[in-house]
Formats: sequence, C-alpha cells, structure tokens
Amino acid sequence: MKDNILSGKEISAAVKEKLKLKTENLKKQGINPGLAVIIVGEDPASKVYVNNKKKTAESLGIYSEIYELPENTEQSELLKLVEALNKRDDINGILCQLPLPKHLNEKEVINKIDKNKDVDAFHPENVGKIMLGEPLFLPCTPAGVMEMLKYKNINIQGKHCVVVGRSNIVGKPMAMLLLKENGTVTVCHSKTENLKKICKSADILVAAVGRPLFITKDMVKKGAVVIDVGINRLKDGKLCGDVDFEKVCKKAEYITPVPGGVGVMTVTMLMQNTLKAAELQFNEKINEKKLKEAPKAKIKTEIKAKTESAKKAIKKAVTSAAKKQKTEAEKIKAKAKALASTKEKIKDKAKDKAKDKEKEKVEEIKTENQTESKNENS
Ligand code: GUN
Repeated sequence: MKDNILSGKEISAAVKEKLKLKTENLKKQGINPGLAVIIVGEDPASKVYVNNKKKTAESLGIYSEIYELPENTEQSELLKLVEALNKRDDINGILCQLPLPKHLNEKEVINKIDKNKDVDAFHPENVGKIMLGEPLFLPCTPAGVMEMLKYKNINIQGKHCVVVGRSNIVGKPMAMLLLKENGTVTVCHSKTENLKKICKSADILVAAVGRPLFITKDMVKKGAVVIDVGINRLKDGKLCGDVDFEKVCKKAEYITPVPGGVGVMTVTMLMQNTLKAAELQFNEKINEKKLKEAPKAKIKTEIKAKTESAKKAIKKAVTSAAKKQKTEAEKIKAKAKALASTKEKIKDKAKDKAKDKEKEKVEEIKTENQTESKNENS
C-alpha cells in the first residue's frame, strides 16, 4: 500500500509531546491549566468525544472537570454553570459539547462563555477575529487539519482548496485558515452546482459534510490531498468518514483515515488552546496587578519628589536666615565698637581739656606770683 496516509495518531503524538513539555514549563511558572467540559444529555458520540478530551487532558497533565448534565437540564441552569466557571481562576478553558438537546439555545450558551476561556473559538468575537486573520484561539478541527498539512510540508499557497461543507464549526473557519495561508478557497455546500467538477479541480479537498462516503473516487483529482473531517457511524456500528477511503486513497497524494485522522487532532488542538488560555489569563492578571499598582507607585514618586523639594526649600531658607542674622550681628558689633571708640575719644579730649585748664591755672598763679613779687620789690 502507498505510504500516503496522513495519520492523526502519529501527528497528534508529535504535537502532544510538545504540549506535555509546555504544560510542565507552565506549572513551573505557577500556571496550572484547567479545562471544564460540559455535556448535556446522552448522545453516545458526544460521550465518546468528551471522554477522549478528559483522557487527553490527563495524559498531558492538564486539570479537567467534566459536567454531565441530564437531558432535561434547563437553559437557566446551564447558563448559571457557565457563569460560575467563567468566574473561577482554576478553570482556563470552557467547552460545551455540541449538539445540545433541542430545547436548549446553543447560541446563548456560547455567547455566555468568557471569550478568553472559549477554547472552542465559537464565541462571536473569536469567530470575528478568525475572519480578520487575527485569531485569539484557533478553531480546533480546522487547526488540526492545518497542523497535518504543515507536518507533511504540504504547500497551500496558490493551491485550489475546496471545502465541502459550510458549518460554523468546520467549513467556514477551515476556509478562513486556508485563505490565511494564501490558498485559493472554494466553499461548497448542499446547493452547489457542478459539485463533482469543482471537487475534481481541488489540489486540497476537505470533506466536512457529515454524509458517509459522500466523496467518491470520480470527484477527486489524481495527486490531490484529501482531508476527511466526517465521522459517521454505519448501520453495522463501524465508523467511516465522508470520503470513500478505500477507493480514493489510490488516487490521492495524501489522505486522512477515519478513525485515526482529523478527529484525534481536534482533541489535541483543544489542549493547545487550553494552554494558551491559561497563559493569556495569567499574563492578564499580572497586567491588571501592574495597572492597579501604577497609580499608587505614581503617587509615591510624586510624594517623594515633593518632600525632597520641600526639604531643599527649607534648607535654603534656614541658610539664608542664618546668613542675614550673622550680618546683622556683625553690623551691631561694628556699631558698638565705633561707639566705644567715640566714647574713648571724648574721654581723651576731656582729659586733655582738664590738663590744659590746670596748666592755665598754674600759669596764672605763676604770673600772679611774679606780679606780686614785682610789686613788693618796687
Ligand atoms: N461537537 C462536535 N465537534 C465539536 C467541537 O469541536 N466542539 C464542541 N463544543 N462540540 C462539538
């Protein structure tokens, strides 16, 4: 047999190896990824998928909680559960297994899931981001297909990629991811005319119709890459895809089997999204904390700067007052000195005057005496 099987088991094992290491690294940083899966009712296929999710999470060391709700669960109860999970820090990813029982409103439930915990990438805001080519989370099944193409180095650029099926879960996001890689994309559906012709022109053919063996050998170009997203249960209980694998595998360059193909990849990509969600929420919390602390830090810096400037002003004022005081004291001292010197001078003058007066008196007496003796002699 030609070795042209794109094995989901093999490729997901390689991806899971990386995810396991990533989980260990996140845990070392204190990030403990957690996933919550909700299932309502008894759909056997859904039960198998949910069980696979639980097992895969366990094998990678990702914490998981499964909520198995009865068929008659009311919308309000389901919404309450989603709200409670939205608030929990230990739950990073929330997934509500579809389809839900008919009486429940899927859209309302999906809209209720916190968009940062929407690991299915079904929330309208996340769908919009995929459309813009800026996905937050990659939609699991299409992302699994892209991972398979990448693993085998299958070129997408410029190739004609035909997606059969236009569901919100697979067909539409699949087209977006192929377009992002520069594929030339055609989306076909139940109303498409010339379906066989369009499929036959595909370099990459993605079947996501949900009808067993829908894609037959005559709808496939020789050398095409055929991706089978369908998982259908036949009357005998066996699983089969949307592609007639036995016949088409002889024409295809590569082909995915069912089971063991895209389905396994879907679960693996869900785990990848859960790790991404955990990292995102952790970083968001750190940023929130920084933002909360930023005003406090700003006020602290402002107070410090103002205190420093006030201290400088006080020092300057004190120094200037002291200088002034010193100058005044020196002036007073100089005045006192001048006063003392004037006093001394006055004192000296008075002394000199007294001396002069005494001298004058002596002279007078002398003169008087001389006159007297002159008179006596004459
Ligand atoms: N049912 C079938 N596929 C999926 C899926 O990828 N996510 C959810 N939530 N339900 C599904």
